[in-house]
This record gives sequence, structure tokens and C-alpha cells, in this order.
Amino acid sequence: MSKPVILTGLRANNDLHLGNYLGALLPIVEMQKKHAGEFQINLFVPDLHSFTTPIDHSKLYEQSLNNIRLFIAAGLNIKDENTFVYRQSFIPAHSELTVILNSFTYIGELKRMTQFKEKGEGQQSSVSAGLFDYPVLMAADILLYGAKYVPVGADQTQHVELARDIAERFNNKFGDIFILPEAEKQQIAFTESVDRLRIRDLLHPEKKMSKSDETGKGVIFLNDSPEVATKKIMSATTDSFGEIKYDRKERPGISNLMDILAALTNTPLDSIKQQYEGSTTYGDFKADVAKSVANFLTTFQANLARVDDGQTLYKITQSEKQMNDVANQTLLKVQKVVGLRV
Ligand code: TYM
Repeated sequence: MSKPVILTGLRANNDLHLGNYLGALLPIVEMQKKHAGEFQINLFVPDLHSFTTPIDHSKLYEQSLNNIRLFIAAGLNIKDENTFVYRQSFIPAHSELTVILNSFTYIGELKRMTQFKEKGEGQQSSVSAGLFDYPVLMAADILLYGAKYVPVGADQTQHVELARDIAERFNNKFGDIFILPEAEKQQIAFTESVDRLRIRDLLHPEKKMSKSDETGKGVIFLNDSPEVATKKIMSATTDSFGEIKYDRKERPGISNLMDILAALTNTPLDSIKQQYEGSTTYGDFKADVAKSVANFLTTFQANLARVDDGQTLYKITQSEKQMNDVANQTLLKVQKVVGLRV
């Protein structure tokens, strides 16, 4: 259990989308492949996070399990003994540690979190305390296991940094209790990427692709049929410059499609730019992107159909047993230094 830990979580509110896949799922699966044996991999479903946005409670349990099937369809090898898949609420230490960390987190810090500002825009007094506080729960998710690397999309970077700040503050007061997640620069260097990914909504590329989008027209869900996904890509908003150019600020639509194509075909962005910049036929370019998305979905969905439920449930049960032990050890250390246990 002394290997450095790579950890990430994906909520189960709704079906996951291409942004979740490219921003968090694919990076952790790639890290597993690249660093097999060297690291411990924790991939979990933060089911307690689910109430921060409207959900159908009757489906949550099944959706949490389904998330783990999606992890496996994405290529996660659950036969690896250094890999753990689990549900947050099955490890009560997450909630316990959150309550303690709440007293070491400032309201000012939580108010500065972009996600809170965006979701609670203009109506913060009617936003749930759960939404306001979830970055602290997220800090507990990370710190319980001493995770060093936390692959997430750009929208979650601030929360990983908050986890680091809370841990540092706690350690300054009580000694070396928590292992700090690496600082943002090291996180990015570790993934060998230029930046954290932010996949954008296809119709409104000024916004991120998000499961809370009501129409779903700008979102590629992992369970979209290849035909539906092709239509969505072909109708993606681009620009009227008349010539393809990568520029995230001025041309977010076309740049987003280039990001997607690069990530799905595992091609450096520079090669994609070389290949397409200057072209005036947006339709041909979109057709290439649509093809890569359709190919990806076909393979992913075939993998999903092959996931063995018996094996998956066995792995989850085993992981939850082992991770309860790890999490409880960290919790006990914390309880001791804050005076709750001797
Ligand atoms: P969640 O469930 O909203 O998203 C899961 C992961 O997907 C990434 N993501 C994106 N990446 C690129 N482009 C997008 N459009 C896009 N949309 C989502 C997110 O950044 C995230 O990495 N609080 C977290 C889950 C969580 C967690 C944790 C993550 C809970 N505890 C501990 C890491 C460590 C969340 O709500 O992500």
C-alpha cells in the first residue's frame, strides 16, 4: 500500500459525456497502462456528490454501478491488484473527514470556487450547503488516500488546489498528517500534456460540455449512437472566418473540434493543426471529427457490452473493503491529532 497514488472520481448523475472521458477517464486509464505496478490507481464514484445538482434518486444506485462499468469499458484493467474501484458512500471515512476539514476551511475560500459561483449565480442564498461544501468533500476524497496525482478536467483544477491548501494548513498545525497532492504544474507535467482539458459544448462553445445541459444537443454522451453523435458533430457551431485556424479564444468552436480529434486519435495537436489549418472546407474537417467520434463510440459501446458484472461487483466489494482500511487509518491519525481519539 505504499505506492504513490493516482486518484480521480466521476459523478454518476447522468450518463457521462465525451468531456468526462477525455478530461479524466482516459488520462487515468493511460496512466494505469503507462505506470502499471509503479502506482496505486483509485478510480471511484463520488455518489455523495450527486445531490449537488438535481437528480433522479431512484436511479442513483444503479447509475453509480454503471459508472464503474464505464471505467472498465474505457480500458481500466480491474485485474490489476494495485487498482481500486469503489463508491464514496461505502467508505464512511469520507464523510467523517469532511466534517473535520470543514473547520479548517474558510467560507471565503469556498465562495471563490468558480463552480460554486457559476452554479449558484445570482441566487447563492438558495443554493444547497452541499453544493457550497463539496470541494471539502473532494479534499477528503483525495487526502484519505494520500493521492499525489489527480487527473481532472480544467473545471476541477481549482478544487484540487484547494485540497492541497487545506492539507498544508492542517499539516502546519498538526504535523505531517496528509500527503499533499502535487501542485498544478507538476500534475500537468506528469500527464505529459500542455494543459488540463476543457471540452466545450458543441452548440455553445463558450461553455464547457456539461451533463447539466438540458437539451443535450451540444453534448456527446458515451451512450449516444454513432449516428446521433455524427449529427451532433456535423451541426457543431464553428465560426464565419472561412478558414480553419486553432484559436481557443477567438474560435472556440473549431478549436474544440480540433482538441477532440487530437485526443481521440491520440495525435499531437500540432499535427492536427498542420493537417487542417488554412483549409476552407469546414464540412470535410467536421466529417473527419465525426468519424473519429463514431469509431470511438462504437468501440467503447462494444467494450461496455462485454463488461462482466460478476467480476465487476467482486472487484468493487474487495476494493471497498481494502479502501475502508486505508481511509480509516488516515481518519484515525486525524482524529488523534485533533483530540477526538487517544
Ligand atoms: P464531474 O463528475 O463533474 O466530472 C468528472 C470529470 O470530468 C471532467 N470534466 C471535463 N473535462 C474536460 N472537459 C469537460 N467539458 C469536462 N466536464 C467534466 C471533470 O473535470 C472531472 O475530472 N467534483 C468532481 C468529482 C470528484 C473528484 C473527487 C475528482 C469528486 N471527488 C476527487 C477528483 C478527485 C466532479 O464533480 O466532477
